[in-house]
Amino acid sequence: MLFERRKPLDLILETASKRSLTRQLGAFDLTMLGIGAVIGTGIFVLTAVAANKAGPGMMYSFVIAGIVCALTALIYSEIAAMVPVSGSAYTYSYAVLGEIIAWLVGWALILEYAVAAGAVAVGWSGYANGFLREIGAGLPIALTAGPGDTITLPDGTTAAGSFNLIAFLLSLLITWLLYLGTSKSAKFTAMLVLVKIIALAVFIFLAFPAVNSANFEPMLPNGWGTPLSGVGVLGAAASIFFAYVGFDAVSTAAEETKNPNRNIPIGLIGSLAVCTIFYLLVAYAAVGAVGAQPGGALSQSKEPLAFVLREIGWPKVGSAVAIAAIVALPSVVLMMIFGQTRILFTMARDGLLPDVLAKVHPKYHTPHVVTWVTGIAVSLFAAMFPVGMLADISNSGTLFAFFMVAAGVMVLRVTDPKRIRPFRAPLIWIVGPLAMAGCVLLFFSLGWNPTIKYFCIWAVIGLVLYFLYARRRSHLAPGNEYLLHGYAKDGKLEPDPLVQEGPNAGP
Ligand code: ALA
Repeated sequence: MLFERRKPLDLILETASKRSLTRQLGAFDLTMLGIGAVIGTGIFVLTAVAANKAGPGMMYSFVIAGIVCALTALIYSEIAAMVPVSGSAYTYSYAVLGEIIAWLVGWALILEYAVAAGAVAVGWSGYANGFLREIGAGLPIALTAGPGDTITLPDGTTAAGSFNLIAFLLSLLITWLLYLGTSKSAKFTAMLVLVKIIALAVFIFLAFPAVNSANFEPMLPNGWGTPLSGVGVLGAAASIFFAYVGFDAVSTAAEETKNPNRNIPIGLIGSLAVCTIFYLLVAYAAVGAVGAQPGGALSQSKEPLAFVLREIGWPKVGSAVAIAAIVALPSVVLMMIFGQTRILFTMARDGLLPDVLAKVHPKYHTPHVVTWVTGIAVSLFAAMFPVGMLADISNSGTLFAFFMVAAGVMVLRVTDPKRIRPFRAPLIWIVGPLAMAGCVLLFFSLGWNPTIKYFCIWAVIGLVLYFLYARRRSHLAPGNEYLLHGYAKDGKLEPDPLVQEGPNAGP
């Protein structure tokens, strides 16, 4: 009984097909969109966190996390090409695995998106505070990090944080832009992608000649890691997984894509492939150039890529890379908050969250209530917590969602084998279970305290809310069917109030 409530796939597709988003994004745009959402705090900042957990062996961590994401990207390609609607893992789960699982996935996606937005803002603040210090306008130390964080100053001294002021302000500013309906054009996204790629390419180019084999010894100071310990190569892989997250953003643009059946798989897999190549080269060059022992200088840096360049004699280029991060990372925060508002909006329109969250601003045509609720929460996360902790918690939600999507795609192969699948994930009975196993492995490598503990608390709160509130109010609950997503009482389809945002709406 519990798993019976499903939203029919055909209803979801019909609703989507009646919307009038212009299909104008091609394979190249989608790949750029994916790279834009992926390259961010993970590579620019968490490289230090990974070094602290695994030492030079963090290079293996990048490979492991990349493999799990590659498997998942194949699976996302199948479902996103087959169900080219926005709403991501939540919508797919609703159709295939039923309402309660969809609710839990939507609930976990709050971790994936909102907490991740906070993490990226904190990561950005590491570079921005470093820059302000460099030009003599540094904030008081206590205002450069949250209460649980410590800052290592260039002279080697450490200090405790109390409130990460600029991460807080950045998140609020981005929320305000989203409230006004600022949507970035594909051109703007492509430009920022270029900035990030050039920064990483310059880093690789300059750090490679400085690679010294002595820096790889000892390779595995913390070993491979044991489940729930959160350290070692696997612990670092679970954290660095964050660097790859975001490629699924491509699937959220499905409704605006030309020939989605071909272009979505290209966008998803292409963006992930490009990022993986850059990441592996950056990780190798960083480790080889300055060493990466746990507790060492790289592992304690808040701006590790700039740090490496300064250490090997390129201080000006180090500052330029820092500026590239300062310019480009806010767009990742924007995409994450945007993605979050869209998911919460969809859940509210399905009746699972209060209607007020589905309100649309009469002038700006943006879901303003959900945007502010999300934005304020993100700003507080960013002000109060360290980047590594936020990234790990975000990863727990993402891994849960990826696991469920893999399960859903396999279930659908059995329950609806005849449905047209423009892209079929190859060897699904191998790829699917491997992707799920990879998600489980990374999830349990996150460390019990605080990550998995918080995830469990979050899931329990979600389940309680589901049974006390969402289950009754769902548009699929007995008596509420007439409210089904997009349908008014007379059975006519209502126009989507957000359509007016235009074809390039959002990231
Ligand atoms: N992958 C994105 C980042 O690293 C979330 O910032």
